[in-house]
Amino acid sequence: MNEQTVVLIKPDGMEKHVVGEIITRFEKAGMKLAALKLVQLTQPILDTWYAHHKDKPFFPELSKQMMSTPVVAMVLEGDGVIQKVFDICGPTDPAEAAPGTIRHDFGVDKPHNVVHRSDSAEAAAKEIGLLFAASDLHS
Ligand code: CMP
Repeated sequence: MNEQTVVLIKPDGMEKHVVGEIITRFEKAGMKLAALKLVQLTQPILDTWYAHHKDKPFFPELSKQMMSTPVVAMVLEGDGVIQKVFDICGPTDPAEAAPGTIRHDFGVDKPHNVVHRSDSAEAAAKEIGLLFAASDLHS
C-alpha cells in the first residue's frame, strides 16, 4: 500500500552532521522524498506532537532537547514505507538497535536517538498536518 511517513533528524543528529547519510539510506531503500525542510520546533508543536508523552517524567527534557536546534523534517512516500522506515531507524533505544540501523550507528540513548519516525498512518497524518502545508508536499 502506498503510504507516507514523517522522519525528523533530531538535534543530536544535526550536531553529528549525518543529515546527508541518513537521507541517503532512505533513498537507497527506494523511498520517494515528498517533502523536505528545516524546522524550528516550538513547545506548542511538541505538546501536540508528543501528546501521548506529555505526562511522562522525561517530557520536559525531551522538549528542551527537541527545540535546541532546528531539525530536518521530511515526508517519505512509498509502498509499506512506515514499516520500512521503522526497520531502517531501529527501535527507540539505540542500545537495542541492530548494527546498520540509524539509531545503532549514530544514537547514544533514548533521548539522543537521532531520528523520529511516525508510528502509524494516523500518526503520520497528524505530524504532516503539524509541520507541512499542502503546497510543501510533492507526491
Ligand atoms: P521518538 O521516536 O521521537 O518518540 C518519543 C521520544 O521520547 C523517543 O523518540 C525518545 O527520544 C524519547 N524517549 C522515549 N522514552 C524515553 C525515556 N524513557 N527516557 C527519555 N527519553 C525517552
